[in-house]
Amino acid sequence: MMEAIEFLQHLNPVHASAPGRVNLIGEHTDYNDGFMLPVATPQRTYVSIAPSSDGKFHFYSATLDETVVWSGDVIPEAGFSRYMIGCIRLLAKEGAIVPPVRMFVDSTLAVGSGLSSSAALELATLRALRQFLRLSLDDVVLAQIAQQAEIQYAGVNCGIMDQMASSLADERQMLFLDARTLQTRLLPLPQDSELIVIDTGIARTLAATGYNTRRAECEAAASMLNVPALRDVQDPASVEKLEEPYRRRARHVVQENLRVLAACKATNAVQFGALMNASHASLRDDYEVSIPELDELVTSLQSESDVFGARLTGAGFGGACVALCRQGMAAEIGQRVVARYNANRHDAAEPRNGQLLIPYVAAAAHRLVQ
Ligand code: GLA
Repeated sequence: MMEAIEFLQHLNPVHASAPGRVNLIGEHTDYNDGFMLPVATPQRTYVSIAPSSDGKFHFYSATLDETVVWSGDVIPEAGFSRYMIGCIRLLAKEGAIVPPVRMFVDSTLAVGSGLSSSAALELATLRALRQFLRLSLDDVVLAQIAQQAEIQYAGVNCGIMDQMASSLADERQMLFLDARTLQTRLLPLPQDSELIVIDTGIARTLAATGYNTRRAECEAAASMLNVPALRDVQDPASVEKLEEPYRRRARHVVQENLRVLAACKATNAVQFGALMNASHASLRDDYEVSIPELDELVTSLQSESDVFGARLTGAGFGGACVALCRQGMAAEIGQRVVARYNANRHDAAEPRNGQLLIPYVAAAAHRLVQ
């Protein structure tokens, strides 16, 4: 594995980083112009950048121990560098002059765990370039460019939650985000509570799942209801006249937006947790993006007396779940639930272990170059 200093040829690099996100509530609402409440993860992706002297772009991922050399024309078909090249191309479209550079990437975020490792890579890349090229782009514009990189270069017709969260969220407060206006507000977590995040160990890429189909179904439902987006549905009962699967998809989105607004007003962790439980049931039954392993982890978390609520987080189809629990209990409950989950995996054809992702000792996240 190459050292940053060696790869960057001792050239006095610029360093940047960005976090992943855990969404507490408001799932599959962003591309319906709705509301959500993510927090940033302590795990981050780090990018260091220095000039390149051979006229080519060099990208190195320490996580994958993989180098990509790009001469500025044909874009690699897949892989980590596609996200970075997408960001470079889009910055150039915005008018920035991006000279050939060497970029070193490292990350403490697990890829495919549903915590937005791709948004963290995009934002860390864009922050590094912003600093290196002294571009005056604000954090919202950076998130918008990152979202376009994901759509145009990774083939996922995603909303803007992950990129906005990676760009603007905080680890200790929830970011209330209105995906239509892009207005944000930081709110405290419910009092005396903390988070547990557990990965199922089942990674799915969004491009290969029903994500784009769900989005298309929502757009079709909005047009059947004669509204610009499902956010604009005034009477929740009006979705009941739609045919399946539009009825269930629209019902989830309309109710999930109401749950986010209620969560912002929740006065305690018990109320907030009940909304998380209802969100999971809706994602499982109406939106149909859960899988048995996520349901098993969520049920197991919900059976713990010090857990206020639990749900899948992110797009679903694999990835992680999040629980809100009594302060001071996350490590103990998390370990117990992971042990139960892993004990059930013994006779699976391909056992995939669950993993406790948070609490996470932030200080242990390694910095690339001091
Ligand atoms: C993925 C997408 C987001 C959002 C979530 C579901 O993480 O990238 O834009 O749609 O799924 O809430």
